[in-house]
Amino acid sequence: MNLILLGPPGAGKGTQAKRLQDEHGLAQISTGDMLRAEVASGSPIGREAKAIMEAGQLVPDAMITAMLANRLQAADCANGFILDGFPRTVPQAEALDTMLGSLGLELDAVIELKVDDAALVERIAGRFTCKSCGAGYHDQFRKPKVEGVCDACGGTEFVRRSDDRRETVSARLDAYHRQTAPLLPYYAAKGRLKTVDGMADMDSVSRSIAAVLNGKG
Ligand code: AP5
Ligand code: MG
Repeated sequence: MNLILLGPPGAGKGTQAKRLQDEHGLAQISTGDMLRAEVASGSPIGREAKAIMEAGQLVPDAMITAMLANRLQAADCANGFILDGFPRTVPQAEALDTMLGSLGLELDAVIELKVDDAALVERIAGRFTCKSCGAGYHDQFRKPKVEGVCDACGGTEFVRRSDDRRETVSARLDAYHRQTAPLLPYYAAKGRLKTVDGMADMDSVSRSIAAVLNGKG
């Protein structure tokens, strides 16, 4: 099964992609995570991407499509994948169509997580992750069971993303509305788009996605 999770920053793409990865053995491909790893390693790509990401803008299409072309051929994609944060522009979607065609693959669904802008700022500003294993939390919506201790690995150090400041979030939302939202009619025209209410709690969103995948949503 090959899926795209589409939605604005903070919509819950990463949260739901991790659940789908665990439940269905699909590979979660987060272009944001891939770029953050490049930034952390200080690679040439990372050095170019760092300032763009901190300004809340999109990195060049050519940079991201080259990264993705390699990633889709990794062994963990054999069962299928969930694209989390890609494509984000119409040229990226067109490049993906070409890549999938040459690999003999098809998209099963493009799932839009629909969330109001006001809720997104609150979600992003409260987000933090475990430094050791990357498990995601939220100050209000998903606290660790024991304060200061990761539920998944017992780690005690947590990090916040440098692009999660309130002022950067509005630039990211603006980029979404201008550059990524045109993908909704793009995939609707192909008959692939399904929209899920991303304002609901995390478990309800997971159930709505499951209904889509079972052909009942
Ligand atoms: P990326 O890492 O993809 O960030 P994003 O799209 O801005 O999305 P987020 O990761 O912020 O949100 P999410 O939807 O994953 O939400 P999450 O599950 O964490 O991209 C970062 C940057 O990299 C971009 O700005 C750009 O510069 C660059 N980039 C990446 N891909 C690119 C591309 N293809 N082209 C060009 N540039 C690219 O949830 C958010 C919070 O809310 C969490 O705390 C979570 O616990 C909580 N939460 C989740 N679901 C719910 C719920 N249902 N109810 C309440 N709280 C919830
Ligand atoms: Mg994410």
